[in-house]
Amino acid sequence: MTKQASESRAGERFSSTGFIIAAIGSAVGLGNMWKFPYITGKYGGAAFFLVFIICLLLVGLPVLLAEMAIGRGGRGDAATSFRNLSRNKVWSGFGFLSIVGSFMILSFYAVVAGWTLKYGLQSFTGSLYANPDYAAVFGAYAGSLQPIAWQALVLLLTGWVVARGVSGGIESFNKVLIPGLLILLIILMIRGLTLPGAGAGVSFFLEPDFSKLTPTSILVALGHAFFSLSLGMGTMLTYGAYVDRRQSLGSATLAIGAGDLLYALLAGLIIFPTSFAFGLEPAQGPGLIFAVLPAAFASMPLGAFFGGLFFLLLAIAAITSTVSLLEVSVAYSMRRWSFSRPKATALTATACFLVGIPAALSVGGPLGDLVIGGRTYFDWLDFIASNIILPLGGLAVTLFVGYAWKRVGDEVGLSALWFRIWLILVRYVAPVLVVFVFLFSTGIFRVLFGWGE
Ligand code: TRP
Repeated sequence: MTKQASESRAGERFSSTGFIIAAIGSAVGLGNMWKFPYITGKYGGAAFFLVFIICLLLVGLPVLLAEMAIGRGGRGDAATSFRNLSRNKVWSGFGFLSIVGSFMILSFYAVVAGWTLKYGLQSFTGSLYANPDYAAVFGAYAGSLQPIAWQALVLLLTGWVVARGVSGGIESFNKVLIPGLLILLIILMIRGLTLPGAGAGVSFFLEPDFSKLTPTSILVALGHAFFSLSLGMGTMLTYGAYVDRRQSLGSATLAIGAGDLLYALLAGLIIFPTSFAFGLEPAQGPGLIFAVLPAAFASMPLGAFFGGLFFLLLAIAAITSTVSLLEVSVAYSMRRWSFSRPKATALTATACFLVGIPAALSVGGPLGDLVIGGRTYFDWLDFIASNIILPLGGLAVTLFVGYAWKRVGDEVGLSALWFRIWLILVRYVAPVLVVFVFLFSTGIFRVLFGWGE
């Protein structure tokens, strides 16, 4: 499709607040809800939080701005935008790689989003609390065939939103759910903080402990700054292509960063007070959310209701992210094969479902014992996408705007001083730090220096 044709496609534009809200919807996901609180508690509380903010400022936000600028300047999907801005095929090759990465993330992320939907429903009906051995209940569920049905439901919902288009689907959906998510977070935070014994959870989360700031914790903060802002996957680039020329990308960057941080902070103020009030051990990921937290809801007044709200909150956070992930592949296939939006959506969502089925079956399920090189199918998808493709995609973005795209200044529209600062960050600081993230997340640093989780 020519640049003019894609410019004029009706309905394929965000309003300025709609864009910021949709980008926050992409950034705020399961990473904010379960990974951020956990790593903050583990690596030094407020001290880690401070390091995380520095990582956001030094690399997260500059790369976010770069990604959005490439999308808006190139006006295409994650591969085509590069091609519209530079003849060199290397860049669009990296763009294509990031499309593959986002597809891989979507295929296992939809599985986990499916768990949250199922838990939400069961909490509202109360059936979640029938058997108090929550770890066993989660194990039995994840080990059955049921997760496939929930994964399918998530992809149907996601596809339904994406098929309705950028403004009528993605924007409208996020405009309802992202403010709704904030309300749910605040209700559950108040519930958590007013439980007897909640203070211990707040201290665990935020008490600064500078002795825990090691090379490992700093690299964890750096990697999470990337993951949390949905960078390196072509997502923010694809969304950026739908932004009006007159919108300031600089202020959008700040708003998205602040939104991501706020939602992560609120999540921590729910999870730790709630689990500490009931003497539960904080842990990361499915362990805490699915196997441990139901015990807290079971013991609090109106717990089934609050538990239902909590899992609903996770589902919303997850699905506003899956929408942005699916859009990356949909935008690409619409252009590549001239599919209509509904057709592109149906085909990519189906492909994602098929690739995700083995992931749904490999968390304790029939494929759980199929471990190759220490990882299950699910773990491999996550590892290749999040730890390899994501830093490579991010590196390509910084090098492209820093060195290859001469007229980037016109697109980012910063004042002279901020532009100079931004250019220094994307030219010299971000690439070095992204290479660090890569060496860390692929385990190369662990082999060399013993830095690792
Ligand atoms: N940012 C999301 C979270 O915090 C996860 C994520 C990583 C993501 N890369 C993405 C979401 C790309 C959408 C698109 O959970």
